[in-house]
Amino acid sequence: MKGWRDADWQGGMRISYDFNFMMDEYVGRSDGITRAELDALRPRAAKVHEELAGKRKSGALPFFDLPYQDTAAIKALAEEIAATADNFILLGIGGSALGPVALQTALRHPYHNLLTKKARGGRPRMFYPDNVDPDLFAGMMEAIDLKKTVFDVVTKSGGTSETVAHFLLAREAVTKALGKAALREHIVCVTDPEKGNLRKIVKKEKYRALEVPPGVGGRFSVFTPVGLLPAAVSGIDIDELLAGAADMDNRTAKGDVWENPAYMAACLQYLADTKKGKRISVMMAYAHGLRDVADWYRQLWAESLGKKLDLAGRVVHTGQTPVKAVGATDQHSQVQLYMEGPNDKTLTFLRVEKFREEVVMPRAFREMDGVSFLGGKSLAGLINAEQSATELALMKAGRPSARITLPELNAYTLGQLLYMMQVQTAFAGGLYGINPFDQPGVEEGKLLTYAMMDRPGYEEKKRELDAIKKKDGYVV
Ligand code: PA5
Repeated sequence: MKGWRDADWQGGMRISYDFNFMMDEYVGRSDGITRAELDALRPRAAKVHEELAGKRKSGALPFFDLPYQDTAAIKALAEEIAATADNFILLGIGGSALGPVALQTALRHPYHNLLTKKARGGRPRMFYPDNVDPDLFAGMMEAIDLKKTVFDVVTKSGGTSETVAHFLLAREAVTKALGKAALREHIVCVTDPEKGNLRKIVKKEKYRALEVPPGVGGRFSVFTPVGLLPAAVSGIDIDELLAGAADMDNRTAKGDVWENPAYMAACLQYLADTKKGKRISVMMAYAHGLRDVADWYRQLWAESLGKKLDLAGRVVHTGQTPVKAVGATDQHSQVQLYMEGPNDKTLTFLRVEKFREEVVMPRAFREMDGVSFLGGKSLAGLINAEQSATELALMKAGRPSARITLPELNAYTLGQLLYMMQVQTAFAGGLYGINPFDQPGVEEGKLLTYAMMDRPGYEEKKRELDAIKKKDGYVV
């Protein structure tokens, strides 16, 4: 095991996964994982590795091979869009929005939309209205000039109500303002190559479109045109992103848990959950740029692992509850709970060793120790000292944590991180014995929404709803 001080032990641009403080040597036997527990999991881990490798080979898990795709068509469409548009609006939700947002926040200027076009490198402003809140959508439409706007309609299934609703509104707005002939210039689509209503509409109205490869689900689609088109439009080097993912693929293709950061992270979270009562998994990003990666991970971990039935059909109700936190901000909001509340959490810190900007605090008020000690020191030094101090304090209190360190936050390191988390999630699904690639639990809510919105074919659900409404209500 490497020392916890060796944040960049792998050197260069490789990210590292430091799990010392997940172990019993540091946080004690009742909360930390023992080597014996990891060893006992080895046979099961080897089996899950074999299963995943087999499925990958047979083509059943195409997300694994996304780092090796040809990106020419994506880049060509992105350049076409960037050449004309001042605003790029992604209409999508869930896995069709969280990945694109994570890429944007991590790799573009934190105030991208406020910069001049020149300072944005000639790239459009980027909008992600990933909710059907009328105030949000109407407000955004008020703020943009339709003549210089391209809408990117993203839905793998082609039928998600929230996305279809936004598409209908955008289409009508463009038609009214610029005429039907302008639709093709202002709307592009990303959807399944064959299936779904959006694909039918693409064919009918002849929109420019890219494909989500069949077999890649929403939360595993960040390296498809779902994430790559908006990334390329906003000026991100998508080949570098995929090169980072490929680098991580080399590391996570290894069957030995001790050499594979994704497998090790999955095993530790699984053991912490099932053996140590750590039912909550907090991801705490000590970098503004990584806050939406924590959000993306929240969906990946929750929707993939939160399952009622295992593969044999037994009721198991698996899954840790993922929580997003941001350091240092949440030290003043959540850390009190993490330190002294129920010891039912693991924390995974995300840390950046070298930030893009060097911001040094000026020397002033020499007579006040509580102020002057900051003089001459950098904000990066401060945020990283706070990260280290928080994990040390948690360790002293017997609270387990791990840390993922990015030498810098760039397309290459982010590609590694996102790929690692996807492999970690797929592997954890195998450990729990559930299917991490479906989401049966969200279906009933969708069906009831259709009934409430009078979609033909959902009359039986409507009757069910009416019966519920007849019962007494408890409202104050
Ligand atoms: O991860 C998933 O599969 C979901 O979160 C989907 O991404 C989300 O429901 C949106 O689906 P679609 O892309 O089909 O509109």
